[in-house]
Amino acid sequence: MKIVIATEKPFASAAVDGIREVLDKAGYELSLLEGYTDRQELLGAVKDADALIVRSDIVDKEVINNAENLKIVVRAGAGYDNIDLDACTAGNIVAMNTPGQNSNAVAELAFGMMVYLARGGYNGKPGTELKGKTLGIHAYGNVGKCVAKIAKGFGMDIYAFDPYIDASELEKDGVKVMTTVEDLYSASQYVSIHIPANDQTKGSIGYKLISLMPANAVLVNTARKEVIKEEELLKAFNERNDFSYISDIAPDCRNTIESNYEGRYFFTPKKMGAQTAEANINAGVAAASQIVAFLEKGDETFRVNK
Ligand code: 3PG
Repeated sequence: MKIVIATEKPFASAAVDGIREVLDKAGYELSLLEGYTDRQELLGAVKDADALIVRSDIVDKEVINNAENLKIVVRAGAGYDNIDLDACTAGNIVAMNTPGQNSNAVAELAFGMMVYLARGGYNGKPGTELKGKTLGIHAYGNVGKCVAKIAKGFGMDIYAFDPYIDASELEKDGVKVMTTVEDLYSASQYVSIHIPANDQTKGSIGYKLISLMPANAVLVNTARKEVIKEEELLKAFNERNDFSYISDIAPDCRNTIESNYEGRYFFTPKKMGAQTAEANINAGVAAASQIVAFLEKGDETFRVNK
């Protein structure tokens, strides 16, 4: 069996070592395509792959159709909006993610960005603290849960909205349950977004929700830039001089924000949430183990396509 790792943004080398160990044990061959810049390289690499491990790499119809032997693709991470699930299903290919494996890394980055902004980018002037501030967690999945845990340590007042999770789950974590998304934004000076990007959520956060936020509002996006309606984000920046936006990966309108709203934004240069050795090892090794379990025993536990 040939397993291809195709990562435009490479894993930490310890993660590749961990993946190799799992695959060696199963007697599988590993082929590594890291840091590629040309899509043709990806198309070539998947040609004779039986299984594929990717991160945010785009696995569309063309990639799927090019991979004649492909049986399974695993997105080493949470969000699988980069995978064409219908094309996988049509090609009889199983698609999986590795939920929870990189959540802590993403949650830690959310706080890293919040503290950075609250301290004025460490500019030597007095900033503010997170302690005692309200935090709204928009979706209480694996990352949202980690965010709540860390927020407790900071002494924040924590709210969450997630219509798919039983209220008792939130309550036992000491999180106040909000029954509407509007209530969440109205209650929270900081809102941390943890919704997936899909047809329902893309462009779902805009002026209306932002304008509900209390004074000195900070929107924290470690999810996907696509969930924000950018023209409305700009309207909020323009109308509220107490509004800031911090995001793991810049919005398309970054130039406008950077040239007009100094001190009210922070953007990572590349998607950085899961960029820790620990997260890479967790997600990478989980991906390899899931591939072995599927190919050897037909285990489809983390399958995301039907
Ligand atoms: C995820 O969905 O797991 C994160 O956004 C991480 O993405 P990455 O693997 O491209 O860093």
